[in-house]
Amino acid sequence: MDETSFPRVELDERPKLDAQELAFPKSQSGITDDDALNRHVKHSSGGVQEFWQLGYRLFNSSADTFPVPFVAGDAFDETFLRAVSPYYTLPKEPAPPLSSLTNLTPLLGLVSAIHVSSFFHLFDEAHQLQLAKSLAGLLSPLPGSMIFGAHGGLPEKGLQIGEDDQSKVGSYMFCHSPESWGELWNGQVFECGTVNVEAIWKPGIG
Ligand SMILES: C[S@@+](CC[C@H](N)C(=O)[O-])C[C@H]1O[C@@H](n2cnc3c(N)ncnc32)[C@H](O)[C@@H]1O
Repeated sequence: MDETSFPRVELDERPKLDAQELAFPKSQSGITDDDALNRHVKHSSGGVQEFWQLGYRLFNSSADTFPVPFVAGDAFDETFLRAVSPYYTLPKEPAPPLSSLTNLTPLLGLVSAIHVSSFFHLFDEAHQLQLAKSLAGLLSPLPGSMIFGAHGGLPEKGLQIGEDDQSKVGSYMFCHSPESWGELWNGQVFECGTVNVEAIWKPGIG
């Protein structure tokens, strides 16, 4: 398969988001210009479903041979991911068939590995805590279960001021430090001492 056989999805061909759809990313990103915000959201979220189809082609698989669905939704929407306290014992209900999933709530307490990247820094401090609590509810209590990834951070917890004046991307981005990130997970989200947190900060990434 050569590069030209992949369908091309032009970002500018996508319909613009309306004011209601833009309200949440606007409040979180600090981007006030609607055109700039539309471009940012399209670059961030557009085409995910198309990528899933491309994945089938790339790995020569299909929905039958790789029955993991792509389940899109708002991580803050309780009808998509119910916020519950972390599980310290296994849920009584068995895991549902993955192909039946339409939201993440049936997986509460059952997920052994959660990868989440370039995500937490999109939100302010309170929403980062809310998000961490929601993801924690998904994690299996079995030893070795983990949440891993990389996000914008700072050596000292605080606000990072964006340098991209044109789009204002990153303006007033709230960033955890390795220390505050550890305190967040080990104490605020999970009971202190029940999880092991490893976090490092590297310059130039975020
Ligand atoms: C910067 S991209 C990172 C994508 C991917 N994790 C990566 O590392 O390449 C941020 C992602 O967060 C998603 N996102 C933003 N707000 C969200 C929300 N409230 N719930 C779920 N996903 C959200 C966007 O759709 C986008 O895919």
